[in-house]
Amino acid sequence: MIHTLRERMRLLISRFGRRTNRLPTRPAPLRFQYANSATARPSLWSRQNIGPSSLVFVPPSLSANEQTLVDSFHKLTYDAVGPNGSRSYFVSWLGYGMFKWPTDLWNYQQIISETQPDVIIETGTYRGGSALFLATICDLLGHGQIITIDVDETYRQSVPCHPRITYLHGSSTEPTIVDQVRAVVGTRENVMVILDSDHQRDHVLDELRTYSRFIPRGGHLIVEDTNINGHPVHAEFGPGPWEAVEIFLAENPGFYADRNQERFFLTHNPRGFLRRLAA
Ligand SMILES: C[S@@+](CC[C@H](N)C(=O)[O-])C[C@H]1O[C@@H](n2cnc3c(N)ncnc32)[C@H](O)[C@@H]1O
Repeated sequence: MIHTLRERMRLLISRFGRRTNRLPTRPAPLRFQYANSATARPSLWSRQNIGPSSLVFVPPSLSANEQTLVDSFHKLTYDAVGPNGSRSYFVSWLGYGMFKWPTDLWNYQQIISETQPDVIIETGTYRGGSALFLATICDLLGHGQIITIDVDETYRQSVPCHPRITYLHGSSTEPTIVDQVRAVVGTRENVMVILDSDHQRDHVLDELRTYSRFIPRGGHLIVEDTNINGHPVHAEFGPGPWEAVEIFLAENPGFYADRNQERFFLTHNPRGFLRRLAA
């Protein structure tokens, strides 16, 4: 607690220099660092502390009226544009932007806690907020690494630098990128994949065929933004992730859409939380 004005001034001067009338400029991207083992406090939480609950909630099937209500709320929330063009689903995690609904992030947390993946592969990095969210959950578990891939280099200098995150630059389906992913994954088998890059059907299908090979039995393969092309938003989009999932599931009976992950009814990924059968 800082009690006196003098102490407050001393703190401000030590942070921003003597000219305290200047507003601090935006800080450089965070460099997350672990304290070295000599100074690190003992971890308060680790994956051994994760509770046993798998919290299965199978959403009830909805009547036509209820489904209309859910879809109307989905469209309202998704399509609402703020005065400066902002969207409610542009959120941030520890200051890094991403396109997500908290309902989906909550499911990610549950899936990661339950399955404790060694590696999470994410296609589509954007500003790095979603990769950082995944890395933060892995930090709490004390386990897991993130590989995130983006073809666009716009935010390359400003994404969070975190010891659990490996950034790859290129198209997610380019053979050289897939080779790099394979090299980083190495012999680790417990892999989870999130597809969130180019949402055109053919690209997503290509990603599904490529990255499903990394998924172990019982593992999760999540296809983001299956809600576009009228499911129920962006009816004008054309064939997208939903249509790619339909083709992929028809080709791969070893995978299914895990509708338990639609527990909140509000998700960017209806029928997009794919899972490989356990046996
Ligand atoms: C919808 S954003 C989502 C990113 C992030 N996961 C999030 O939640 O904010 C999609 C990102 O995919 C990238 N992208 C588009 N086509 C790609 C491709 N072929 N390979 C890799 N990334 C791609 C875009 O540059 C963009 O940053």
